[in-house]
Amino acid sequence: MISKVDVVASLLKDKNCDTPVMPSASVFSPTNIALIKYWGKRNQELNLPVTSSLSVSLNQKGTFTELSIIDSDHDVVYLNDNEITEDTEFYQRIVAFLNLIPRRNKFFMIKTRSTIPTAAGLASSASGFAALTTALDKLLGWKLTLTELSILARLGSGSACRSLWHGFVEWQEGKDEDGMDSYGQPLPYAWPELRVGLLIFSEQTKPIGSRVAMQTTVETSPFYPLWPSKVANDLVSIKKAIVAKQFDNLGFIAESNALAMHATMLTAWPPINYSLPETLTTMKTVWSLRRDGIPVYFTQDAGPNLKLLFLEENTNDIARVFPEMEIVEPFTRRPAA
Ligand code: PMV
Repeated sequence: MISKVDVVASLLKDKNCDTPVMPSASVFSPTNIALIKYWGKRNQELNLPVTSSLSVSLNQKGTFTELSIIDSDHDVVYLNDNEITEDTEFYQRIVAFLNLIPRRNKFFMIKTRSTIPTAAGLASSASGFAALTTALDKLLGWKLTLTELSILARLGSGSACRSLWHGFVEWQEGKDEDGMDSYGQPLPYAWPELRVGLLIFSEQTKPIGSRVAMQTTVETSPFYPLWPSKVANDLVSIKKAIVAKQFDNLGFIAESNALAMHATMLTAWPPINYSLPETLTTMKTVWSLRRDGIPVYFTQDAGPNLKLLFLEENTNDIARVFPEMEIVEPFTRRPAA
């Protein structure tokens, strides 16, 4: 079986892995929200997906990472100015990723600042691993292509391979055993009027991580065999909706895809249910707004929070119903704060 170390070795052949070309590298990567979800791996070691997926990046919402090499016998990790202890999963995932690189006893200082709640199903690991990969490339002067960085970031967290770009990104599932054809690709379509509303019901760490949840679903849900063809159809339809800027189609396909993903989880054993009571009441409010003629849709990831999809022209109507909602403009170019 091909290991992560094999893939990294082939991508970093002849690259410098232990001498920085600058004192420290600072980068930002946006998080991304899947409109067509990635749920299920065909290869757990390499994070190779069963299906392709499609996301939109959240512009200023994401991860800032500052990376340097330090004179120490261990890596030092900061998250939002707090040093993260070595016994945490957060620290261990980062170090496991850094250990894939032939770094010859060199240790890193990783200072990350996230503008999104960590591990609340808002894809913070996606922007985190995309930023770490980009920072390594800059610090060590690799000059890899974005495609190669996407493959590397995928080894940290699958959805990270879509966070190398702003806007709509499709992750091609690929067929190769080593995953060299499984990476993100930006779609050349902007939709400046599109809005994503973030509704955070809980910032607590999810009770079950996406890795275990995906595997349990793949192995036990009687609905999972239906998932790949649902995704294939949804991908074709949503790309048409994006090209033609048909918002109702985009919203319907994204919401239906998210509900189908959660249906596979609810029918897994043991069952997986990420929703809180607020998640369900908000879904019902969204459906009632639609019955009143307001085009608003939701999507949900591996957590209780919902992301609403709507257009600029309906912002006031929707913000009145959800005053606590944070509104993201995925296609408005602004420097990340
Ligand atoms: O990349 P992971 O392991 O964080 O999984 C992400 C899974 C979902 O967010 C539920 C779907 C997706 O495509 O982002």
